[in-house]
Amino acid sequence: MSAEMHVPLPRDASADEKARRYDEVFAAIESLLDGEDDWIAAMATVACELHHAFEAYDWTGFYRAVTDELLVIGPYQGGHGCLRIPFDRGVCGAAARTRETQLVPNVHEFPGHIACASSTESEIVVPVLRPDGRVLAVFDVDSDTPAAFDALDQARLEALCAALGARFG
Ligand code: SME
Repeated sequence: MSAEMHVPLPRDASADEKARRYDEVFAAIESLLDGEDDWIAAMATVACELHHAFEAYDWTGFYRAVTDELLVIGPYQGGHGCLRIPFDRGVCGAAARTRETQLVPNVHEFPGHIACASSTESEIVVPVLRPDGRVLAVFDVDSDTPAAFDALDQARLEALCAALGARFG
């Protein structure tokens, strides 16, 4: 792992620098999960590696779909996260309900946003789908920076979550 990997990418990094950091982190995750078949270990590794790779990642973690109506918290990094989220609440519930990524530049404008921290300004939530299309989990990232996430983040995190769902779903 490069020495730079131990320094979170600054919030004002260029698109090329962000893309390169995602490449580095995903290579590290792939190496760390080589031969691993435990889903909890995979979630913990993904949350840890991504959380420490980007300054803008202030809360990074998973919510697991324990029924087709309820999410329960999984491995995460950052401050206390709420433990249970019904599919009909919050940004995470919207991602689970619609099975579509929720890219939220301003959480204060998202109806029903659940604020686990008063400092959160923006958020991205990506569904993790099983091969049969059912929701396995959602991957949630909160930032204290407004509009911290863009199409590049969405594309990279969707590719990661698609691979996770195919492998562990
Ligand atoms: N903001 C999320 C809740 C999870 S905490 O941010 C970790 C939501 O609105 O679903």
